[in-house]
Amino acid sequence: MKSLHLALGLGLGLGLALAAVPALAQQSPPVTATSPDGAVSVAVSIDGDGRAAYAVTRKGKAIIAPSRLGFLFTDVAKIDRRLTITSTEQRDFDETWTQPWGEWAQIRNRYREFKVHLKETTALARVFTVTFRLYEDGLGFRYEFPQQPNMAKTRVADELTEFAFAQDGTAWWKPAYLWNREEYLYNKTGLSAVSTAATPITIRLADGTHVALHEAALVDYAGMNVTRTEGTTLRANLTPGAGEPKVQKTGAWSTPWRTLIIADDAPGIYHSHLMLNLNEPNKLGDMSWFKPGKFAGVWWNMIKGEWSWARGPKHGATNANVKRYIDFAAANGIPDVLVEGWNVGWDGDWFGNGCDMDFTKPTEDFDIAMLAAYAKKKGVRLVGHHETGGAVTHYENQLDRSFAFAAKYGMMVVKTGYVTDAGQLERVDPDGTKYREWLESQWMTNHFVRVAETAYKHRIAFDSHEPVKGTGLHRTYPNWVAREGMRGMEYNAWGGKNPPEHEANIVFTRMLEGPMDFTPGILSLEGERGSAILSTIAKQLALYVVIYSPVQMVADTPENYAKYPAPMKFIRDVPTDWQDTRVLNGEIGDYVTIARKERGGEGWYVGAVGDEEARSLSFKLDFLTPGKRYRAEIYRDGDDADYRTDKRHSIVIENKVLTSADSLSLKIAPGGGFAIRLVPVK
Ligand code: NOJ
Ligand code: CA
Repeated sequence: MKSLHLALGLGLGLGLALAAVPALAQQSPPVTATSPDGAVSVAVSIDGDGRAAYAVTRKGKAIIAPSRLGFLFTDVAKIDRRLTITSTEQRDFDETWTQPWGEWAQIRNRYREFKVHLKETTALARVFTVTFRLYEDGLGFRYEFPQQPNMAKTRVADELTEFAFAQDGTAWWKPAYLWNREEYLYNKTGLSAVSTAATPITIRLADGTHVALHEAALVDYAGMNVTRTEGTTLRANLTPGAGEPKVQKTGAWSTPWRTLIIADDAPGIYHSHLMLNLNEPNKLGDMSWFKPGKFAGVWWNMIKGEWSWARGPKHGATNANVKRYIDFAAANGIPDVLVEGWNVGWDGDWFGNGCDMDFTKPTEDFDIAMLAAYAKKKGVRLVGHHETGGAVTHYENQLDRSFAFAAKYGMMVVKTGYVTDAGQLERVDPDGTKYREWLESQWMTNHFVRVAETAYKHRIAFDSHEPVKGTGLHRTYPNWVAREGMRGMEYNAWGGKNPPEHEANIVFTRMLEGPMDFTPGILSLEGERGSAILSTIAKQLALYVVIYSPVQMVADTPENYAKYPAPMKFIRDVPTDWQDTRVLNGEIGDYVTIARKERGGEGWYVGAVGDEEARSLSFKLDFLTPGKRYRAEIYRDGDDADYRTDKRHSIVIENKVLTSADSLSLKIAPGGGFAIRLVPVK
């Protein structure tokens, strides 16, 4: 204890003061920093055993009680006890940057950075820094290890980072490590009843403060899940590698940012830009070739089981079908058409077994040259599809030529997929060794970056299904335009449909990761064998505003859209790229109303979704430009609309003239929602 004592004293320049404290009870006084606006503070302390902890307060209230920092390794002693703070540094940063596409055109990145340098007082004498970035709406922190003799190679067994919430509360969370990957409904439980959860996890603390725990910039590291250890304390639980340490590093390394968004209410959580800001700027370059937009697709009939991806009598991707979808897209101003099952490889058991997939070999009934030319003549592009079936190395081996092939046929976007059970992705190393990987393993986080870089070489954007979770990386790799990573519309084709509260849950959880390819707009409200989707038709329209993606699917079939020409107008009109976004109201899992201003225009679009209860939502239109008059095209649930009855198609479409001085109060049916287009009138 003597030596620890001395090191602490020297490190802080407080030797004299500390020398008077009995060794065992010794604690260094915490070092602290505050966000530029003063709201969020962090304190880092060392306890009598030399263990480091951080604590977070907001507006003077404890949010995170002292929580441990540290690591376990597979080959050397852990980093945990016998630490000392050697020095600290602070710097302020304030910049506004422009998103090539997104929910907001301009993003302000204003933070105070606080670096806490630590050193072990053991013989290993390892050094590292915990860097905090403090924002008005939360913080991120990461560990940074410089190159050093006792850490030439690092093999992380797990991270000991804790998140000890200072109060109990209600948590919305998805289980981690289960077979269906990210595709689970959110649990709503007490925080003190969470088991092992994927992030983001969103918590409403007892005093009403909302906190979202997640991570930013997950690259070359294992994804973080969290396990509750006791009470309201969660601890990092890194995704395993395949029979290897969870993370392997050579030389200097750092972790992704561990993030806590903190706000007074649910809308405040959504408004945070902290996730994007903690990612590095665009590493790829010019993105002007990417035009956000909608896409139709040879898809819903496959998901419903009426058509097949495989060749045979039910094959969906035939010349005749694809031409019909291109005609539909052209007639509705939809610039892209996805075609699944277009390539060789689907005929056998492709689920979890994509080794026959070839993304440069169309099937004989899909004439790609003819279809690409036909589409081009009509002002439409094809969207490619690379379903890997989880055969990841097999995909990497054909990655470059697959994107070159897509580019050759004029595609701007490719949808990718990794359908296999969790922990079953196939990796084959150059020496032939086979591994089974998790989606969020270190190797897979790097795989997705290889996809982004390769796709970009060919000026292609991609939309990954069964992806690694989003951590704001689309700032750095802006051609990674969307991903799935949650139960999307496809679950409404099958038994066990998404419940009415699903979208009001995911806005404040999954959507914090970034854009989601939810595939909205099933106006028929029917899944397989005519089974009812638990939604009204107005809610399907609302999803185009509520669930953000720069590439939004117009997911139903042309035949079904022909039956609903009036609501179809909203789908035609709604843009997919925004200047500004405001969450006007919302409670997690109950309801939410979002207003968005189109980029490059003066129109505003409002969408609201509810849950299984009927309710009325009121909001001001003070986001509109004062002095302007707007024609409001309102698509709302009919008075008799109800997701439980055959009235789920009941919709009222009405026009009003409104200004920024007006308010609206609209009813939402059980399972319902509303959508509004506001365009200035001359
Ligand atoms: C699952 C995806 O989510 C879905 O959109 C796709 O059609 C199938 N996999 C086949 O790739
Ligand atoms: Ca899926």
